[in-house]
Amino acid sequence: MTTGMKLKQFLLHEKRAGVDLPYDLIELIHEVSITCKEIAATVSRGELSGVLGVAGSENVQGETQKELDIITNDIMANHMSVSGLVAGMGSEEIDDPIVVPAAERGEYLLMFDPLDGSSNIDVNISVGTIFSVLKAPLGCKAEPKLEDYLQNGDQQKAAGFVVYGPSTVLVLTTGQGVNMFTLDNAIGEFVLTTEGCQIPEETTEFAINLSNKRFWEKPMQDYIEDCLQGENGPLGKRYNMRWVASMVAEVYRILVRGGIFMYPFDSRDPSKAGKLRLMYEGNPMAMIIEQAGGAASTGHGRIMEVESTGLHQRVPVCLGSKNEVEKVFEYHARADNAA
Ligand code: AHG
Ligand code: MN
Ligand code: MN
Repeated sequence: MTTGMKLKQFLLHEKRAGVDLPYDLIELIHEVSITCKEIAATVSRGELSGVLGVAGSENVQGETQKELDIITNDIMANHMSVSGLVAGMGSEEIDDPIVVPAAERGEYLLMFDPLDGSSNIDVNISVGTIFSVLKAPLGCKAEPKLEDYLQNGDQQKAAGFVVYGPSTVLVLTTGQGVNMFTLDNAIGEFVLTTEGCQIPEETTEFAINLSNKRFWEKPMQDYIEDCLQGENGPLGKRYNMRWVASMVAEVYRILVRGGIFMYPFDSRDPSKAGKLRLMYEGNPMAMIIEQAGGAASTGHGRIMEVESTGLHQRVPVCLGSKNEVEKVFEYHARADNAA
């Protein structure tokens, strides 16, 4: 009986059962979970903390930073850089890789989005932290170079996110399925509550920011147009729509009841392939979704096969219930063939 096990206890149990999980990876995941408890505590204080609102600065992607974007970035970066487990880190909020002192270096690279959905923080809607773990090619022997980070998603050793909602839940994969751990505040531990998440293959629920429709490519416009026609349209189903504007909350919902989530390529800024970032949003969420039996595509191919060219590279994202993602893929393939 594994349900009810604490996070670290469960990972050690899996290792003993034969799963390929090095001790330092278990430690790393455990340390990340500790920082997420600190972030959960910070976020949950809301207005009491006096840190809601904008910080007056912009990150490398030209987005206005919230004070909490910076505070949560520092919580993660400061804690992990002395953990002895990472050789370097990449964060949404920091332009260049975060350097770890030589004496503190470990074997892994940690990519993270410290506060996903941060536009929702002031309005008290769920936000989260996303992370992706890669092996540092030279381990702890040298300071990682930028190229060392540019691995594709299939090379991730672990991926996860924590959603700070009505309950705080850690969703984790180490490549052996997806498990969920709910934070039990009474004991201060993440406790296994769902083992082996499986996303239903079929769905009638889509999530997309429809206000951007005029900027999308034709296949995406056509697919959503057909969804909106419901049971009398070419897809023959009555769809429901959701848009939380926190990817963590949307992916969590899809893990629980299925669905499809899209942030497609749009023409607002042709230099960007989409809004979401490959290394700390697209790849970790794609690994989780695939490990739960879903699919994660750019519309043209698997997200985790996209060649990584920069820490803050953008990627079009379409993920969730397998058969629905496959439909979106077919709309794109048909348009490609016609061209
Ligand atoms: P972040 O807060 O880390 O910048 O990410 C926000 C992302 C994602 O969580 C969400 O799905 C999307 O941006 C919402 O975008 P819109 O505000 O354009 O709907
Ligand atoms: Mn984000
Ligand atoms: Mn963020």
